[in-house]
Amino acid sequence: MPSRAVYPGSFDPLTNGHLDLIERSLRIFDELVVAVVTNPAKTGLFTDVERVEMIREATHELRAIEVVIFDGLLVDLVARVGARAIIRGLRAVSDFEYEFQMALMNRKLREEIETVFLMPHEAYSYISSRLIKEVAGYGGTVTGLVPKAVEKQLLAKFPRR
Ligand code: PNS
Repeated sequence: MPSRAVYPGSFDPLTNGHLDLIERSLRIFDELVVAVVTNPAKTGLFTDVERVEMIREATHELRAIEVVIFDGLLVDLVARVGARAIIRGLRAVSDFEYEFQMALMNRKLREEIETVFLMPHEAYSYISSRLIKEVAGYGGTVTGLVPKAVEKQLLAKFPRR
């Protein structure tokens, strides 16, 4: 049976760091489900549908990827799609505490599902969706930090000054 993992996140928007993790995941797993998780507590810059479209466009050359919108408990999605692992990225020690808590809670909920932490390329270790939005919002350039499809959408939201 092909091995399958789920890579969940807000992806508001997808960055080159996320894309790097998607590619690394596909070196380990046969199939990857990228799950755009709807969070009613967070108002995003992009709608869920826009986020999915950007991810699809940025990954169209990659095989064995499915992009879905998800609302609910992550472990339920993982079980439903027949995956056995959750992929999360660790950029720096500062990510660890939050990730550690989530991984242990997910293990408590369904112990058969493992969280696999991957490190993005060091060139992307300082990139976050939050900083990308901040820089783009003030008219700064994010070329090389996000996929072209995302850069285009950011320019549409925040025209260069
Ligand atoms: O990109 P983010 O915002 O850091 O991703 C966080 C995400 C979406 C992975 C997390 O909030 C999540 O899994 N949400 C789904 C609801 C859930 O299962 N909560 C319990 C996780 S311990």
